[in-house]
Amino acid sequence: MEANIVLLPGDGIGPEVVGAAVQVLDAAARRWGHTFHYSTYLIGGCSIDAYGTALTAETLAACQAADAVLLGAVGGPRWDDPAAPVRPEQGLLGLRKGLGVFANLRPVKVYPPLAGASPLRPEKLEGVDLVVVRELTGGLYFGQPKGRTQEGGRTRAVDTLEYSDFEIERIVRLAFGLAQARRGRLTSVDKANVLESSRLWRQVAAQVGTEFPGVALEHVLVDTAAMRLVANPASFDVIVTENMFGDILTDEAAVLVGSMGLLPSASLGGDGPGLYEPIHGSAPDIAGKGIANPCGTVLSAALLLRHSLGLEAEARAIEAAVERAIQGGWLTRDLGGTLSTREMTAKIVDEVLRE
Ligand code: NAD
Ligand code: IPM
Ligand code: MN
Repeated sequence: MEANIVLLPGDGIGPEVVGAAVQVLDAAARRWGHTFHYSTYLIGGCSIDAYGTALTAETLAACQAADAVLLGAVGGPRWDDPAAPVRPEQGLLGLRKGLGVFANLRPVKVYPPLAGASPLRPEKLEGVDLVVVRELTGGLYFGQPKGRTQEGGRTRAVDTLEYSDFEIERIVRLAFGLAQARRGRLTSVDKANVLESSRLWRQVAAQVGTEFPGVALEHVLVDTAAMRLVANPASFDVIVTENMFGDILTDEAAVLVGSMGLLPSASLGGDGPGLYEPIHGSAPDIAGKGIANPCGTVLSAALLLRHSLGLEAEARAIEAAVERAIQGGWLTRDLGGTLSTREMTAKIVDEVLRE
């Protein structure tokens, strides 16, 4: 098949890990006889430097017209001034909103050989295989009003956590569908003891649940969920939650697998293409050193093949290649190994082309 893929490498380690994922996509293309056409655009800090904005209309239009979008990361200390009128992260939020990708799937699977890379006891990690479904285009990140006001010599800042029943229903329904296709357990995470938006979330989740009698729904408060994620992570199957709760819980979940560098994500649900990105950021502390773990982005590319291009065998082959590489002890430094990004990528490419 032929497909048009927009690449948004972004800032910091973004270009390094996207470059790695393209090599792996090309290996899959070679093996299965596909042609992937790539076009590359700026997003985030590099776009601010070039155009004064973190996401240009041209870049958004190119993404909307593509079959899929693969993004690295945005941001970094250079653009971190809290008084700056434009921020790299605005590009990412604008892109998610512009593509209408309200459902961010973040699968978290522990590779048994890496149990030692996590600070948790290995027996806690047995059987950990969960997916966080993070609402991505609403909640605290997007609610209005947002911003600052001046009054009587004082500055006030406001962010608003807002959801409509429509927004909750569509994300919860997607999560139920996913749970139904997996182990039949859905944990809806909220803060319903305090937040009105969470009480609506809980009501809607229960209502949608009546359509999925085969799925066991539980409601868990986000503080308890944060604790259970490290105390008993294997007890989760699918978690569905508000935008910022999902952001925080998935960084916590990265501790289970041993590194931020391992976790991929797929952002779905819009009319157009899906958006695929690792859950980590631009990692300014290691940018430019050639040592970033490419696996999160490579696995995001696998999700791209599965969800946007319908190439299941190819997606599985990439996932299996990463797994075999890790099983064989091929590890980057974040996981206690010595490999560079380039060496790790070459190993994954070899594994994809094998058989
Ligand atoms: P980060 O995820 O960039 O880094 C956290 C830690 O994890 C660092 O020690 C880093 O070296 C390590 N790490 C992350 N990815 C890695 C990889 N692939 N291989 C090896 N180690 C890896 O988070 P941060 O430092 O809090 O944020 C840095 C910048 O990135 C900020 O500007 C933030 O806004 C931005 N950010 C962007 C995204 C995104 O683009 N999706 C996500 C998170 C943070
Ligand atoms: C992520 C990041 C982003 C988020 C930031 C950079 C806007 O942390 O993708 O997890 O909070 O969504
Ligand atoms: Mn995050």
